[in-house]
Amino acid sequence: MSKFAYVNGSYVSHCDAAVHIEDRGYQFGDGVYEVVLLINGKMADCNGHLKRLDRSLRELEMKRPVSEGALLQIMSRLTRLNRLKTGIIYIQITRGVASRNHAFPKRSQSSLVITVKHVTVDTGRQFVGKSAITVPDQRWNRRDIKTIQLLPNCLAKQAASEQGAYEAIMVMPDGTVSEGASSNVWILNNDNQLITRQANEDILNGITRRSIQRIADERQMEIVERSFSVAEMIQAKEVFVTSATSMVTALTNIDGKKIDEGKVGLIASALKADYIKYVQSGV
Ligand code: PDD
Repeated sequence: MSKFAYVNGSYVSHCDAAVHIEDRGYQFGDGVYEVVLLINGKMADCNGHLKRLDRSLRELEMKRPVSEGALLQIMSRLTRLNRLKTGIIYIQITRGVASRNHAFPKRSQSSLVITVKHVTVDTGRQFVGKSAITVPDQRWNRRDIKTIQLLPNCLAKQAASEQGAYEAIMVMPDGTVSEGASSNVWILNNDNQLITRQANEDILNGITRRSIQRIADERQMEIVERSFSVAEMIQAKEVFVTSATSMVTALTNIDGKKIDEGKVGLIASALKADYIKYVQSGV
């Protein structure tokens, strides 16, 4: 656990950090968040995450509590205070504290909470493959907004955890894959096309997803944005997920079925290595 957290203007000891019981994040899940990865002191895709945070706030008509510059300064100071070199920075903004009424309060000050957590990042040459299960996607229709309302995602992850799996892949009523409970899903088919679902309101347009699209493009790979079925995924040469916390993580077993021969694929490994290099270069 980290030693310090940032709560509405103050750097406080993590164990004493608290928000009011009438905070709308606590009452209604009325808030948005971002997770930024830090590797050896370098923030991964920070600009993209802060831009998406702004978008989420706008979509929900929520006021931003501090400017982008101030937010960056707070993030840097908190990582320094916690001596964090590699881990994640969690940023959460809610509509603030107000007497419980569903409609937006006339006057409220958005709450800002930032925490950091040490995590080990798989930067070795031998990346480890993980398993996944498929579950029905039970979420609302605006999955493009990164809200803190994550109960369906928590239920999906719990189901995965009970089966010893790393990720739960969510499936739409039409049988197509939407995304992982906390990641975007990619497949490599037998024509060496990299396929990932088109980013609309059905999925969160991952910041890592966008960087991987750029990196794959630089590698002159063919990228196709379209939906795909569970059957197509299981038959793929490679399946992997992308997110701030997992970067690029190969899925070698889904619903108990091996993907290809159950080994981490060359493309997932190459994209992950390139992504780590890109983050380290601090662009
Ligand atoms: N989740 N889809 C969902 C539903 C997610 O929750 C996430 C990230 C992603 C990938 O987005 P990005 O590449 O911008 O991290 C896709 C974060 C890591 C989390 O909830 O912890």
